[in-house]
Amino acid sequence: MKPVKVGLFGLGTVGTGVVRIVEGHQEDLQSQVGSPIAISKILVKDRSKARSIHIDSSKLTEDPWEIVRDPEIDVIVEVMGGIGNTKEYILEALERGKHIVTANKDLMALHGQEILAKASEKGCDVFYEASVAGGIPIIRTLIEGFSSDRITKIMGIVNGTTNYILTKMSQEGAAYEDVLKEAQALGYAEADPTSDVEGLDAARKMTILATLGFRAKVALEDVDVKGISSVSQQDIRYAQQLGYEVKLLGIAERQDDCISISVQPTMVKKSHPIAAVSGVFNAVYVYGEAVGETMFYGPGAGEMPTATSVVSDLVAVVKNSKLGVNGRQASLSYKEKRLKTDEQ
Ligand code: NDP
Ligand code: HSE
Repeated sequence: MKPVKVGLFGLGTVGTGVVRIVEGHQEDLQSQVGSPIAISKILVKDRSKARSIHIDSSKLTEDPWEIVRDPEIDVIVEVMGGIGNTKEYILEALERGKHIVTANKDLMALHGQEILAKASEKGCDVFYEASVAGGIPIIRTLIEGFSSDRITKIMGIVNGTTNYILTKMSQEGAAYEDVLKEAQALGYAEADPTSDVEGLDAARKMTILATLGFRAKVALEDVDVKGISSVSQQDIRYAQQLGYEVKLLGIAERQDDCISISVQPTMVKKSHPIAAVSGVFNAVYVYGEAVGETMFYGPGAGEMPTATSVVSDLVAVVKNSKLGVNGRQASLSYKEKRLKTDEQ
């Protein structure tokens, strides 16, 4: 049986998990999609680097174009990060009819609409489940699970690193800098953790969620952002004495056709379930006019949870190929939005 050939961009935290799942769950994957899935080439920055898994070194390349231009490769799984060059590779791969799976929220928040338009033009899939809330299938849920409803609000914890830091500061009195280092060592933080602690990573994720949830053209600049770098031990202690936990909350709301989005450290009553979301875990509340309140909870970062979402997207791409329906999801149409601040 002819295998589906995958080009993997990145063999760091997430890429390593992707290889582990594709190899470890091969039989299950094959039974779902009807053909073997083979990772045939892997892009890395440094081929000579020691790896935590065994990889046939002939698969490794430092040249992205070798993968983009390989006519044998059907799908590119992009888990290396970056914006400018990464977008260029993805657009060229789509031009050549390859499907894309990515965990890159920076890219999707900034250039998602352009990438999805190209995918739609070429009849290709672009799936990005892992870009928000790691192992929680929230993107699929917003697109498919709530298609019959009008979502009015999306709220939650969408950054694992900052929730890990705030939890350790609150529960163990740990120092901010020490816990940030731990989150980096565990593979939760971004290559530049400033985007985690200053709230930008969460803002990018809220941009993606609001775009999908409200079916509107939301831009990153629409989000009011404040991170946790100025939250002190003392702030956390005072909040606790008053019966609150400090959480970095993303909140996107729609009233009629007006949207407001923010990311900021927020005092959450200890009795609210969000106050109990600890460590690297994320939680997303979705409110719909018809459904009311729903909550989605799970690991928001890390090797295997994130790779689970990535490989599930890969399975979806291959299933779509078998059914001849690639590119359908990319052709969603979005309304122009008004921001709440536009009204003033
Ligand atoms: P890592 O830094 O652990 O890995 C990045 C990988 O990409 C490395 O293998 C690196 O090569 C390779 N790489 C980076 N830049 C280049 C380049 N210019 N050319 C060739 N190869 C390159 O990142 P993560 O795995 O943590 O994250 C990857 C993506 O997934 C990011 O977009 C991130 O935001 C996203 N993500 C991460 C999550 C997590 O929990 N870590 C969760 C959800 C999304 P080398 O190994 O040689 O250095
Ligand atoms: N740095 C991100 C986080 C990775 O901590 O949530 C998952 O997107």
